Amino acid sequence: QQEPKAVIVIFGATGDLAMRKLFPSIYNLYYNGQIDENVAVVGAARKPWDNETFREHVKKSLMNKVDSEEEIPDSFLSRFFYESVDVTEPSSYQNLQHLITTLEETYETDGNRMFYLAMAPEFFGTIAQNLQAYGLKDGQGWTRLVIEKPFGHDLPSAQKLNNQVREAFDEEQIYRIDHYLGKEMVQNIEVIRFANGIFGHLWNNQYISNIQITSSESLGVEERFHFYNQSGAVRDMVQNHMLQMLALLAMEPPIKLETDEVRSEKIKVFRAMRPIKPEKVDQYFIRGQYGAGEIDGNPVKSYQEEHEALESSNTETFVAGKILIDNYRWAGVPFYIRTGKRMAEKAAKIVVEFKNMPMNLYYDEKDYQQPNLLVINVQPEEGVTLHLNAKSNQPGIQAEPIKLSYSYNCKERISAPEAYEKLLLDCMLGDATNFTHWDEVALSWKFIDSIIEGWKMQKPDFPNYKAGSKGPEAANQLLEKDGFHWWPIKDI
Ligand code: BG6
Repeated sequence: QQEPKAVIVIFGATGDLAMRKLFPSIYNLYYNGQIDENVAVVGAARKPWDNETFREHVKKSLMNKVDSEEEIPDSFLSRFFYESVDVTEPSSYQNLQHLITTLEETYETDGNRMFYLAMAPEFFGTIAQNLQAYGLKDGQGWTRLVIEKPFGHDLPSAQKLNNQVREAFDEEQIYRIDHYLGKEMVQNIEVIRFANGIFGHLWNNQYISNIQITSSESLGVEERFHFYNQSGAVRDMVQNHMLQMLALLAMEPPIKLETDEVRSEKIKVFRAMRPIKPEKVDQYFIRGQYGAGEIDGNPVKSYQEEHEALESSNTETFVAGKILIDNYRWAGVPFYIRTGKRMAEKAAKIVVEFKNMPMNLYYDEKDYQQPNLLVINVQPEEGVTLHLNAKSNQPGIQAEPIKLSYSYNCKERISAPEAYEKLLLDCMLGDATNFTHWDEVALSWKFIDSIIEGWKMQKPDFPNYKAGSKGPEAANQLLEKDGFHWWPIKDI
């Protein structure tokens, strides 16, 4: 395995993602001894900062990790450097090249370079091409390009971006981030499936009736309203995170746990997803936008009232969909997904619903026999719950639902790595398994584009759900017409 030695250059280092996720992750990796002497970080952004200002900024980003500033060692901060750049200017790349070369000697990084693009996507192509044009790509060791989402806003724009990036970098050098793939319980999907005979053998259309994947948020769009309003929930969450979870749930066992093997199984799932005809979109996907409501007892404005730029917006802040996978394993099993802003809870959860026994011995006719469920709690709690039926301790023989639960939060996991931490380390170690291949991106955009095309043909009736609720009624009807219902997000 490769050693984590590199100069990490973060484009967009003064931005929100670097502050919230990247610096704290680098700190954790350093603190836990996963990276040490041979790593230096260069912040590259427009602001005319110097090293000191940048280090103060990095310090601030760590304040919720430490009790006091003094705890952050100088040996950590002193490896952060700043270069003010204009990403369209040749001189910026020359200056960067000079700084990187100096740091490579000081920190003995074996010439390895990671370029992390944590900024507006319109610059991804320009930066990638300039990194090549000005020789930054050709270091003495490996060079990797990490690209944040959004990777395009539809298939043609993603294709264009990919072509630009691929002119400069090979596919193996490109690490497209989907931070859900760094989440502990999303990584656990494979282990639960492939290390347990009881699930491995039942994981198909003979025994599973449907699978539900939910990621709900109570926050709204905050400062990102401009970006979000052009994107909407289906592009922001479904094209990437939701479909990635679905692929891990639906894929065949890879022959080995190696990048190409896992990716090729996921790609097959994307290829098997039944395309949704734009004119039939309503049968499969429904959208919502929140109106005024209440969350945790506090009044919340409607989406359109959050900012004047959102007035009479048709952007969806909620989406629920039914996806069919046309292969032998999954024929006839609906995968339901839903995600939304300003809902009652912040939670991500997967519920696998098993088919019931052919005959119901223990419940009288009016009573409903609860199907077995396997619940994978992705966040905020991390764990697995299996719902069974067992004898109730009342007189007579009656069954009642019981739960077998395992919560990772019960274990000592205070220093459990966060998604970005794992992904940054994977990238340094050259493991691209939990990053998305271009084919996955392209196929998922193709699927999403026809949904959006269908929606463009109609005017939505927004707002159609209250802030703090479970989303629009149409999301319930989507399952009811198949004889199912959404399992709750909380307490399951
Ligand atoms: C991001 C979306 O990719 O994922 C955000 O752009 C969303 O809109 C976020 O809030 C959700 O991530 P998490 O890890 O908080 O579930």
